[in-house]
Amino acid sequence: MSDLVFTAKSGAPEAQKTSCLVVTMNKTKSLPASLSNLDSALEGAMRRVIKSKDFNGDAKQVVSLSPTDGFPRVILLGLGESPLQAPTARQAAATLWAAASKTQAKDLVIDLSAASIDSSCDIAQILGQEITAATYRYTRTISKPKPSSSIKKVTLLVASKNDINATKAALVSGHAIGQGINYARELANLPGNICTPTYLAQQAEELANTFSSISAEALSETDMCELGMHSLLSVSAGSDQEAKLIIMHYKGDDTTDAQHCLVGKGITFDTGGISLKPGAKMDEMKFDMGGAASVFGTLQAIAMLEAKVNVVGIVAAAENMPSGSATKPGDVVTSMAGLTIEILNTDAEGRLVLCDALTYAERFNPQSVVDIATLTGACVVALGHHATGLYANSDELAEKLLASGEATGDRAWRMPLWDEYQSQLDSPFADMGNIGGPAAGSVTAACFLSRFAKAYPWAHLDIAGSAWNSAPKGATGRPVALLTEYLKSQR
Ligand code: BES
Ligand code: MN
Ligand code: ZN
Repeated sequence: MSDLVFTAKSGAPEAQKTSCLVVTMNKTKSLPASLSNLDSALEGAMRRVIKSKDFNGDAKQVVSLSPTDGFPRVILLGLGESPLQAPTARQAAATLWAAASKTQAKDLVIDLSAASIDSSCDIAQILGQEITAATYRYTRTISKPKPSSSIKKVTLLVASKNDINATKAALVSGHAIGQGINYARELANLPGNICTPTYLAQQAEELANTFSSISAEALSETDMCELGMHSLLSVSAGSDQEAKLIIMHYKGDDTTDAQHCLVGKGITFDTGGISLKPGAKMDEMKFDMGGAASVFGTLQAIAMLEAKVNVVGIVAAAENMPSGSATKPGDVVTSMAGLTIEILNTDAEGRLVLCDALTYAERFNPQSVVDIATLTGACVVALGHHATGLYANSDELAEKLLASGEATGDRAWRMPLWDEYQSQLDSPFADMGNIGGPAAGSVTAACFLSRFAKAYPWAHLDIAGSAWNSAPKGATGRPVALLTEYLKSQR
């Protein structure tokens, strides 16, 4: 967890004692009047840099001023067109951190007195989240990691004393979501030889030890066998790593039994199994537990926020390997729901673990179930890396999730779940096949899942494109922000 401290105070920028003052401005041709006292303290440096056109407040522009007696460092940060909107604010926060963290500064004081900010843009929450996310570095398996930034404290200057408490709360909430994002990234970035299903089960235990609002348990393969989860078990059949069904309970609202389920795909490595994947880039299949990682990250975030909601996090964790005991194409298994599945391609394993987890979720009589999965390469073809693919059997749930994505910039795009696609799953030897052919691969994967999600309002998020980047390679922590926003807005 992050040791960065966020706080807020009121006061004039020129009166601040800080190792780095950050002055923000929208696009401008002249110095905003509210900054003229500060400019005098800086011996006219801001006026000069604006006059020279080296700085005009363009979005993401950063200019450092040479030190003066009172101010060792001043960074001018451009906010672009006024009023500032959330997407630009997010980019500006990341740009600011990239510039500030290169200095030796111990703290930042951010002055927004000259900034014009749209009322829909919660700048404190955005700064808290984006700066926290920007601090993330992967160091776990690097013998001599580069030192982390020297900045330990970020203070936001607010116009009036009356705004201090609300601003602090928004910063802390952004900080919690940022840490949830970073936790999800860390789990997803860990290599498959460390991050096994058993490792994920230990993470659940650690969350339960850290937060009194969280409890955790993990089902073994024997437990799952007794429950009839032969679809899930078919995926781990070829692996030396035991599959785990991890169940975490977050209790944030004592006044009701109503609860929401998150179900994460936790394939800790996906070789494809006997339907072996090609060798190139196969290392990226360590990210195939990105859905599970987002469940852990979201639970940590809502626990830190003490969100007034009850959530069950379910993680279907398994490793997909070829071996003498592995499932073969053409094998037929019976799922926990009693439906039989002809496994035509062992590389379509995500749906095989998720279907049994979705059936298991029925016992919680949930208000909603959202599964999150790096499910199909076809989703990357359809939507690329910007949008998460959203499928739902409930328009109301779909709208809520889409809105949560818009509000956080962690956006999803709804895809069709029409009956017409279902027949692509027909099999002559079982109730269904596990693949639907080359057409609409992301849709038919969702159609498969929909057959196991009839007992509750359900949505499926295909994050194959949004959960990680190939260059530079690393997990994004999506859709923790979307899910946290969704759960916060539930009762
Ligand atoms: N984990 C993959 C999906 C994936 C592929 C995510 C590439 C991100 C990047 C999934 O288990 C898989 O292999 N899906 C197959 C399904 C096919 C066999 C129907 C795919 O997408 O090729
Ligand atoms: Mn696969
Ligand atoms: Zn997979």
